[in-house]
Amino acid sequence: MLLRIAVQAKGRLFDETMTMLAESSIKVESGKRTLLVPAKNFPVEVLYLRDDDIPQAVASGIADVGIVGENEFEERQEDAEIVKRLDFSKCRLSLAIPKEIDYKGLEWFNGKKIATSYPGILKRFLDKNGIKAEIHVITGSVEIAPGIGLADSIFDIVSSGSTLVSNNLKEVEVVMKSEAILIGNKNLSAEKREILNELLFRFDSYKNAEGKKYIVLNIPNDKIAAASELLPGMKAPTITKLETDGWSSLASVIEEKYFWEIIGKLKNLGAEGILVMPIEKMIY
Ligand code: PRP
Ligand code: ZN
Repeated sequence: MLLRIAVQAKGRLFDETMTMLAESSIKVESGKRTLLVPAKNFPVEVLYLRDDDIPQAVASGIADVGIVGENEFEERQEDAEIVKRLDFSKCRLSLAIPKEIDYKGLEWFNGKKIATSYPGILKRFLDKNGIKAEIHVITGSVEIAPGIGLADSIFDIVSSGSTLVSNNLKEVEVVMKSEAILIGNKNLSAEKREILNELLFRFDSYKNAEGKKYIVLNIPNDKIAAASELLPGMKAPTITKLETDGWSSLASVIEEKYFWEIIGKLKNLGAEGILVMPIEKMIY
């Protein structure tokens, strides 16, 4: 029995999806990519699809679960369930207009032509806000539509915003935020749910360790309390007395994004011999 997991064959989710699988010790041959590839050491097979096709594949049971952008799932309105938000490939779906236009509010879009690959989400948004605009569906390079006179504005994915800038557009309304999600078929067998739970456990262990480092340092005993406050770790830091009188060794977990700030404060407390090491997995 294999759990079949649909992933994007190429595109914005691909790299991080493959990293997450690899870090969860799910090894799939990446050399010659066929459509369906069994994992080597875990009861999973990977089905490579276009992201647009993943929601339907999961809803219909062609795949058991799938990793897809929330935007794509929202657009397709297929009957599958969101199992887990995966916290990567974050972006937003926004309305954008030529940058020189003086924008005063949503009413601007009345009577305008909007180019998009997400007509469903856009229509629901316009209807909800009582805006009557013409939706023009195109599947790629939506951002060039206003420049070539195909539309007045666009509704598309914005991530860094650089695509908008290079096409002389500006974001004026954020309609939804999106990230990668794991969706699942609603009628998975007990056996498949069990494999899915193990998969989720592995994803969590990887995600928990992401952005975290293991830190060990020496600290004068009278500064242990102050240092512990800076380094809460998983529960509390581990403290070991050193042979050198009046000194202890302290070990904990540190978030990479606060790293330089915390290191500075620790040095001010008199910390010495600071070692920082990568953490591969973290199980609470
Ligand atoms: C999306 C979108 C823009 C770009 C925005 O395309 O259509 O072109 O990303 O990203 P930015 O704000 O970081 O510039 P995507 O790469 O998903 O490919 P697509 O052409 O298949 O939509
Ligand atoms: Zn797509």
